[in-house]
Amino acid sequence: VSKIRIGMIGCGVVGQGVLRLLHENAKSIEARLGGSIEVRRVVARDRGKSRGPHLRDAQLGFDPEALLTDPEIDVVVEVMGGLEPAGAFVQRALTAGKSVVTANKALIADRGHALMELAERRGADLYFEAAVAGGIPVIRVLREALVSDRIVAVRGIVNGTSNYILSQMQEQGLAFEVALKQAQQAGYAEADPTLDVGGGDAAHKLTILATMAFGARGELQSLTTEGIDTVDAADIEFARRYGYVIKPLAVARALPSGALDLRVHPALVTKDDPLAHINGALNAVHIEGAALGPCLLSGLGAGALPTAVSVVSDIVDVGRNLFAQASGRVAGSPFSTGRAPSIQPIADYRGRYYLRFSVRDQRGVLGKLATALGERDVSIEQMVQEGHGKDQPVSVVLLTHPAREGDLRAALAEIDKLSFVVEPARALRIEA
Ligand SMILES: NC(=O)c1ccc[n+]([C@@H]2O[C@H](COP(=O)([O-])OP(=O)(O)OC[C@H]3O[C@@H](n4cnc5c(N)ncnc54)[C@H](OP(=O)(O)O)[C@@H]3O)[C@@H](O)[C@H]2O)c1
Repeated sequence: VSKIRIGMIGCGVVGQGVLRLLHENAKSIEARLGGSIEVRRVVARDRGKSRGPHLRDAQLGFDPEALLTDPEIDVVVEVMGGLEPAGAFVQRALTAGKSVVTANKALIADRGHALMELAERRGADLYFEAAVAGGIPVIRVLREALVSDRIVAVRGIVNGTSNYILSQMQEQGLAFEVALKQAQQAGYAEADPTLDVGGGDAAHKLTILATMAFGARGELQSLTTEGIDTVDAADIEFARRYGYVIKPLAVARALPSGALDLRVHPALVTKDDPLAHINGALNAVHIEGAALGPCLLSGLGAGALPTAVSVVSDIVDVGRNLFAQASGRVAGSPFSTGRAPSIQPIADYRGRYYLRFSVRDQRGVLGKLATALGERDVSIEQMVQEGHGKDQPVSVVLLTHPAREGDLRAALAEIDKLSFVVEPARALRIEA
């Protein structure tokens, strides 16, 4: 029988899931691959930690060097995370002609193109299914199943922590801070949740999705990234009354101009939107193909076993290519040779908005708000005012017709200076 020998860097949540899946499904994997997978070396950092029941002492080491220079290793599995030294390890493995499977979204978002080009030059494979939406096979779908179609838009809920928090706020009427604490206690959020709730993690994943779907390159810096930490329980309630749910979205859309609309932010979606029903820590990616039409993939975007499903499937694919001596058979991105599209500046984005103003209850306030918006071509579709009382501020909530974001922001900046305004205006995009 043929055999592929892997070396794995990292043996934490994902790494131990990989070992477990390789162990439990060894027979069926072997039958499907037409060969076996041998875990030759595993490298971690902390000598004191337990690594679960599926690793023998002889396999475990603490020197990445020994793994990277081992000529008996065909495939390097990088499940340690972070840009460095993970990036250097992946680069060295590819340079040595070893194929790489990684779950590292930060690395692929930041350096995916250079690494894909390196893999291509070296005739090696670089697979990263687990980097986007954990166990959901979205990279494979874009790269292989939909290679025949032209993708029009990809919209996803790709950060389980953010989705869990907004779902809890929605279901239980909690404030953001309370829902975040609950998420931390339930193990859905890290002690430092910045990358999740601030949108950075979703931005990494969107960057990768935009590369796979549209051939975008290195867009992280120019990407509009807004976290869910600006969403208030009051916004969720007002949105509900208008028939919307607030979801943490990542959107990549091809515009008629050829440019890309790329954004990560909480958005109002209608109750009938398929993404409105993706709750808790679930992830989903909604792809729209010109020929296919809409297609929804949903499932668990994190966790040891779901993520391991993607990592091990990548190992099997890489192994099939090795057996067929066809490494590099499937290009990293179906667009890796095309010209990268430009990114539309967010000021030129056009869409509908939800606006909430906190104002003193004075005569003429609504008129002044409408005038300030109207002067910038932002017209109002619906409006409610809530709360009363001489000294208490009231909320004015507006839904707008489609407007240009630059114009809207200019109007809001002027409104924020008006004497009756108590707090800066809140604005959320309506993605419908
Ligand atoms: N967790 C998920 O659900 C999930 C889902 C999708 C993708 N991912 C991605 O998968 C990767 C791993 O995540 P994880 O949750 O498994 O992280 P983790 O539990 O923190 O595990 C990281 C592992 O890497 C090892 N490590 C770190 N620095 C090292 C170094 N310099 N040399 C050798 N080993 C080193 C750690 O060693 P010690 O154990 O000795 O500390 C640990 O075993 C990340 O890129 C993450 O974004 C995770």
